[in-house]
Amino acid sequence: MADSITTEPGTVDGPTGAIGEPLIVLDHVDKHFGALHVLKDVNLTVHRGEVVVVIGPSGSGKSTLCRTINRLETIDSGTITVDGRPLPAEGRELARLRADVGMVFQSFNLFAHKTVLENVTLGQVKAKKVRPAEARDTAMELLERVGVANQASKLPAQLSGGQQQRVAIARALAMKPKALLFDEPTSALDPEMINEVLDVMVGLARDGMTMVVVTHEMGFARRAAHRVVFMDAGQVVEEAEPETFFTAPRSDRAKDFLSKILTH
Ligand SMILES: Nc1ncnc2c1ncn2[C@@H]1O[C@H](COP(=O)(O)OP(=O)(O)OP(=O)(O)O)[C@@H](O)[C@H]1O
Ligand SMILES: [Mg+2]
Repeated sequence: MADSITTEPGTVDGPTGAIGEPLIVLDHVDKHFGALHVLKDVNLTVHRGEVVVVIGPSGSGKSTLCRTINRLETIDSGTITVDGRPLPAEGRELARLRADVGMVFQSFNLFAHKTVLENVTLGQVKAKKVRPAEARDTAMELLERVGVANQASKLPAQLSGGQQQRVAIARALAMKPKALLFDEPTSALDPEMINEVLDVMVGLARDGMTMVVVTHEMGFARRAAHRVVFMDAGQVVEEAEPETFFTAPRSDRAKDFLSKILTH
């Protein structure tokens, strides 16, 4: 396990602003799928306002790590806390956690038979008991913010991948999350659509959103991330500021991984 980089609460000015107190804390987290040990003694603290990029080879546990944070996967041992509270197991508390820690997936996961506007409205009304008219206003503001307000009455399949992913981001934002998790949000997109999604994410980072982003987009990491966490074989092998990680990785595993992705 690499040394943590110093992130003194409240004193570090990263690329997008000050970092606050710890918000998401994983402490000695272990997870198996049957005989497969997929998370091995993972320790990770994400501070309020911090943007952490998670990078690493296929199968290293990046998605599983994200999924454990909003309890789409359970863990075998260790603890995860969000805003000082252990993850709830079920019921209303779990629904609240999922609202507090939104997730944006590679495959968008929009409701196919609901309009764009309904996609961004539903969760607010159902989980947060927001009045429909207010939920619509919030949804339209968010759709405006991610640049797809003019698509509000369409079904997801009528939108491009980049537009759908921006709707998915708006939907997560509608729950007024404390943090957002992104699992390879641009890897299913055609190249010309990647930047329109990354630009929205950079905007969120600049606005101080706490974000954990699994991505190999080094441009995003350089523009927006305070820290890169490199995972391999279920372990956090190395963490560093983006520039340091990309130009001077310490571990052989990170060097090897970077040499592979940089030659693409
Ligand atoms: N539901 C599951 N059941 C069994 N094994 C699983 C399950 N989900 C993931 N795994 C295995 O756990 C390991 C970690 O998977 P994970 O999806 O977290 O990796 P990843 O780093 O996100 O990889 P990728 O870059 O390909 O998305 C892999 O070996 C994977 O095959
Ligand atoms: Mg994955």
